[in-house]
Amino acid sequence: MRRKIAAANWKMNCTLQEAEDLLKALNEKNFNLKDNQQVIIAVPFPYLLTAKQILGDKPSFYVAAQNCYNKVCGAYTGEVSVAMLTSCGVTHVILGHSERREYFNETNKTVGQKVELVIENGITPIFCCGEELSIRESDAHNRFVDSQIREGLFHLSPDAMSKVIIAYEPIWAIGTGKTATADQAQEMHAHIRNIIRGKYGNEIADNLTILYGGSVKGSNAVELFSEPDVDGGLVGGASLKADEFEIIINSLR
Ligand code: PGA
Repeated sequence: MRRKIAAANWKMNCTLQEAEDLLKALNEKNFNLKDNQQVIIAVPFPYLLTAKQILGDKPSFYVAAQNCYNKVCGAYTGEVSVAMLTSCGVTHVILGHSERREYFNETNKTVGQKVELVIENGITPIFCCGEELSIRESDAHNRFVDSQIREGLFHLSPDAMSKVIIAYEPIWAIGTGKTATADQAQEMHAHIRNIIRGKYGNEIADNLTILYGGSVKGSNAVELFSEPDVDGGLVGGASLKADEFEIIINSLR
């Protein structure tokens, strides 16, 4: 069954006190989520346990990390391993976000290694892809995302691929207030699903959850999520306000 997901990406925001307030505000809200609907909250590493404590019993809510390292353990000062995440009860992790690719030199290859490692350890990856403006303007966006997916995911076994969530986030729409139109999102999501279909077949492609990210707000979520291949959103700025994120969660179709 294809999951419909509202995922929050807090990025590098909130003090501990602010994080607790936001988590508690979300916890106090009642959501009427259907069986296939989920909410994932990706908080900064220091708040993972707090998020688990506050949201741990909330039905259909999951706590995610925003990254992890592509090595099992050892002398990698400052990095966080998959085993650390599982031992904290983390179930999901965002991998290959465009900000990580841009500022921390992550490549399709390293992101692909992380994807494989986290799945082996029972964590669900949210694999991010998406083009920058110049690529879209030169009409190369389909080809660009195609290569991100081939290089980042095609080494996976069918069983591993069936565990992946993909987030399409056009870089020109992230944090800019400039959302892709519902048509643009649908077109790319259908393209992504077809790439996966070509390699992994109908069942895995049809069950794949593909999230849209890039200036998702309460005011545009219903329109975006109504598209047949848009299965929810990965939400940055608008996930930092409980009331706004509530509207987005309630916009899941
Ligand atoms: P935004 O960020 O919603 O603030 O545009 C989305 C993301 O980067 O995941």
